[in-house]
Amino acid sequence: MCGIFGCILKEGQAAPIIHAALKRLEYRGYDSVGEATLDEGKLYVKKDAGKIDEVHMRRNLDDLPGRIGIGHTRWATHGAPFQVNAHPHFDCSDPPKIAVVHNGIIENFAELRRELEDAGHVFRSKTDTEVIPHLIEEYLNSKQFATKGNVDSEFINATIAAIGRLQGSYALAVVSTSDPDMILCARNESPLVLGIADNAWYFASDIPAFLPLTNKIIFVENGELVVLRENLLEIRKVADGSLVSRETKLVDWPPEMVEKQGYPHFMLKEIHEQPRCLRNTLRLQEKYLELLPTFLDRAREVIMVACGTSYHACLAASYMFSKLSFLATHPVIASEFTEQHGKSVSIDSTILAVSQSGETADTLAAVETARQRAATILGLTNVVGSTLTRISRVYVGQQSGPEIGVAATKTFTSQLSVLSQLAIRLAKKRGKVSQEEIDLLEEKIEEIPDIVENIVETQEEKVRTLARKYKGKQCFFFLGRGISYATALEGRLKLMEVAYVPSIAFPAGESKHGPISLITQGFPVIFVCPPDETRRTVIGNIMEMKARGASIIAICEKGDEDIIKLVDDYVEIKEGIPGVLSPIPYVVPLQLFAYYMAIERGCDPDMPRNLAKSVTVK
Ligand code: AGP
Repeated sequence: MCGIFGCILKEGQAAPIIHAALKRLEYRGYDSVGEATLDEGKLYVKKDAGKIDEVHMRRNLDDLPGRIGIGHTRWATHGAPFQVNAHPHFDCSDPPKIAVVHNGIIENFAELRRELEDAGHVFRSKTDTEVIPHLIEEYLNSKQFATKGNVDSEFINATIAAIGRLQGSYALAVVSTSDPDMILCARNESPLVLGIADNAWYFASDIPAFLPLTNKIIFVENGELVVLRENLLEIRKVADGSLVSRETKLVDWPPEMVEKQGYPHFMLKEIHEQPRCLRNTLRLQEKYLELLPTFLDRAREVIMVACGTSYHACLAASYMFSKLSFLATHPVIASEFTEQHGKSVSIDSTILAVSQSGETADTLAAVETARQRAATILGLTNVVGSTLTRISRVYVGQQSGPEIGVAATKTFTSQLSVLSQLAIRLAKKRGKVSQEEIDLLEEKIEEIPDIVENIVETQEEKVRTLARKYKGKQCFFFLGRGISYATALEGRLKLMEVAYVPSIAFPAGESKHGPISLITQGFPVIFVCPPDETRRTVIGNIMEMKARGASIIAICEKGDEDIIKLVDDYVEIKEGIPGVLSPIPYVVPLQLFAYYMAIERGCDPDMPRNLAKSVTVK
C-alpha cells in the first residue's frame, strides 16, 4: 500500500506541492518516496529509499522544474525498500520517457514481465509496477491497440490498452514526454480521488492530501481512466473509451485537521480529539442510525467482518448486541471470512463490515465473497466515498475526521460509540430491554465524551509515569472479562504496534488455563476492570496473578477501593459508566500507555515499522 499524488498547475512549480501532499499521505507508507515532473518536454525524476524527510534532506524533493508532476510514497509489497524499487517506474528508454506511480498489486505481473522481457524490454526493479510503463511503451511502439471512443491520442490509447492487460488492484498515474502536457490516472480497487481548484487539477489516494489545496473532489470509480490537461479533465471508461460525467463533491474537513496542531505526534493529537469525535457520533444522521437496526432486526444471521482495531470494535459490539438487543452476531477477522463462512453465507445472511478507511483489502474481499452469495452488506466507516460505502446497501459514516497516526485511536472509540447506539436502537425495536434501562443507556452514552475528556485531563500524567516505570518490561499481559476482553485486545495491539512490546491478551478467566505459567516476579499484568458483573471474578483473577508475583496495573472505576488496594498501580475512570459501554472510556488509558511507552522506548508512534495506515493488499 502506498500513496500517490500529482498535479497540473496553471502556474508555479509542482514539486514542492507534491512533496507537501506526500507528507500528508505518508501514513499510507513511508519506506521510499519519489517524484517525476515534466518541463519543456523533458522528464525530471528524484526517488530514494527512506522516509520523506530523510529523502528530502539528502536529495531536495522541491527543486524539480515544471508545473506538472506525479509523486509516490511507498509501502513495499514487491521488491525490498531500495532506491531502485521506489516509484516512479519507467520504460526502457534512457533517459526514460514514461513514468508511472502506482498503489496496489498487479497480480499477473510475473506473466506480463516474462512476455515483455521476451519482447526485449529491460527491467530495472523487482516491482510489479514496472510492467505498466513497459506495457505502455510496447503498445506505443507496436501501435497494436484499437482506438476506442474517439480518443485521438496514441499515448492515451496505448495506456488504455496496457491497463486492459492488468489484473489486480491499482490506482496509478502516468506521464510521458510524448504528451508532456498531460497526466493519465486510472483505478481498479485502490482508492483514487481528484481535487478540483481554480488554478490546478490534483489527484491523490486520499482526501487529506488535498485539504489545504481544495475542498472540491471527484471520486474515480473502478475501471475508469482520467485525462488531465491544463484546460481539460475527462473521465473515460477503460472498457470502451466512452466519456463519463461525474459531479463534484465538497468535503468539509478543515485543513488544520491534518496538521499536528502543536502535538508532537498525530497519535497523541488523535487521542486528545476523542471527546470531540465522540460528540460527533452522537449527532449522526438519524436515517442511517435507524436503517441499520432495521436490517439487523430482520437478519437470520449477522456476521461482522473487520481487521485489527476494527475487529476489536466488532468483538465489543457482539457483546453489546447480545446483551442489549438479544441478537447473536459472529465477529470474524476478515481475512478468515471466506474460508470460515464463505460456503454458509447466503441471501439470508447480513454482513456488517467495519473499516475505518473503508479500503482494507481483506475486509473488502470478505464483503465481495458475501456479495456474490447475495448477502445484505451493511457498512461502518470513517471515509465516506470509500469503496466500502459504495458497495454497502446501507452504511454509517462515523465522522471522526481524518486519522493520520497509523495506530487507530479516535476511530476505534467512535466505532464503539456508533455500534453501541445501533445496539440500543435495536434493543428498543425488539422491546427486550426495559424503557428505564434504555433511558439510562441513552443518558450515559451522552456522558461518555465528558468522561473521556476527564481521563485525558486527569490521568495522562499518571499514565506517562507508568510508562516510565514499566518501559523496560519485555512482555505485558492484558486481561479482561466479558466485553473488557475486547478492550484488553485493543490495549495489547496498541502497545505492540507502536512500542514493539510483545504482549498477550486473554479473557481473564482463561488465563489460568495456560498463560499463567509465564508469570514470574514483577511480570506486568494490566487488568481492565469496570464495575460490571465481571468485577467480582476479575478480583479473583487479580489475586491469582498477585500470588505468583505479578505487578498489577488496573484500569478501574474511580474509588474502587477493593481493586485499588490489591494492585501496584491503577488508572481511574470516572464512575457511572455501564459495563456495556465501558470499552469506550476504558481503552483510552491503554492508548495513552502505548503512546508513552513508544516515546520512552524511542519509537516513532506515528510511523511504526512495517505498518501502514490502510492495508490495501490481501
Ligand atoms: C490499528 O491500530 C491498526 N493500524 C490496524 O489494525 C487497523 O485497525 C486495520 O488495518 C483495519 O483498518 P481499517 O479499519 O481501515 O479497515
